[in-house]
Amino acid sequence: MRIGVLTSGGDAPGMNAVIAGACEHAEEIGAHAVGVQSGFAGLAARRADPASALEARAHLHEPGTWLGTSRWPRLRDADGRRACRDALRALELDGLVVIGGHGSAMGARSVADEVPVAFVPATIDRDVADTELTVGMDSAVAYGADAIDRLRITGRSLPGRAFLVQTLGAPHGHLADAVAAAAGVDHVLVPERPYDLDGLARELRELSSAGSAIAVMSEAVGDAVRIAEALAGSAGIRVHPTILGHAQRAATPSALDRTLGQAAGRAAVEALSRGASSFIRLAAAGAVDAIPLFPKTEGHGATVTPTTPRSHPA
Ligand code: F6P
Repeated sequence: MRIGVLTSGGDAPGMNAVIAGACEHAEEIGAHAVGVQSGFAGLAARRADPASALEARAHLHEPGTWLGTSRWPRLRDADGRRACRDALRALELDGLVVIGGHGSAMGARSVADEVPVAFVPATIDRDVADTELTVGMDSAVAYGADAIDRLRITGRSLPGRAFLVQTLGAPHGHLADAVAAAAGVDHVLVPERPYDLDGLARELRELSSAGSAIAVMSEAVGDAVRIAEALAGSAGIRVHPTILGHAQRAATPSALDRTLGQAAGRAAVEALSRGASSFIRLAAAGAVDAIPLFPKTEGHGATVTPTTPRSHPA
């Protein structure tokens, strides 16, 4: 069995972990993984090489995607889809793993009548329906939170000014909301909720004396430089725009994105080995609930005998 693996759309931290998981599981089941270069554009051009688990593993820690990716609008047209189907046949692929975001999910579905396709949601935007997590978002959130931690340090050292941090994530505010939550910032501008710039300016002015005047905005609400200027004009203090930009997309893959990514890649190949076109759903980590501190179970209060520590060999 020959299984193609491709990454599509904007790169996301942890895509390499998905590729590694897919290549590893392919080898385990006696299949051959084939790395398709540059997403669907590369597939249509039939650019593909064998990909070993060893090679894939060597890129596990790197952000981006070592296979390369592309945005390829031709996939929306019949001739683009035909070129991909022809390529799948010419490359003798029996299945395809597609790793990407919202647009790539549509691309995956559009070629699934040729061979079974397994889609793995991987995007910093978390804009894919039917999954709670997407590979890459955790790392991009950590990057944004780290930037805010640093702004707090300079803000406290030299108080009296404010910061406006712009995240990627367009057209949604999911990423901005998650960065703000992780960094403990209350003021967030996202397209999903109305906001009041004059009110925000007043609050930032009050917080600026303590060096904690930080707001987060999604790129989807507009130009950070102009919004910072408007806030500064209204607040009467300096407001520094900090645009995380594409550096956020190349955040170091977090432990979560690496483990989740590998598991998703393995699950994708497992599904393909059964001949099933699949969407690999990623359930939320970190769900919390409160349970009684003293469970009303039978064993409560019983003495627990400590295990005897093992002696270490000399
Ligand atoms: O891949 C998603 C994303 O990083 C968005 O957060 C961002 O708006 C967009 O891609 C940027 O696109 P491009 O890489 O084409 O500039």
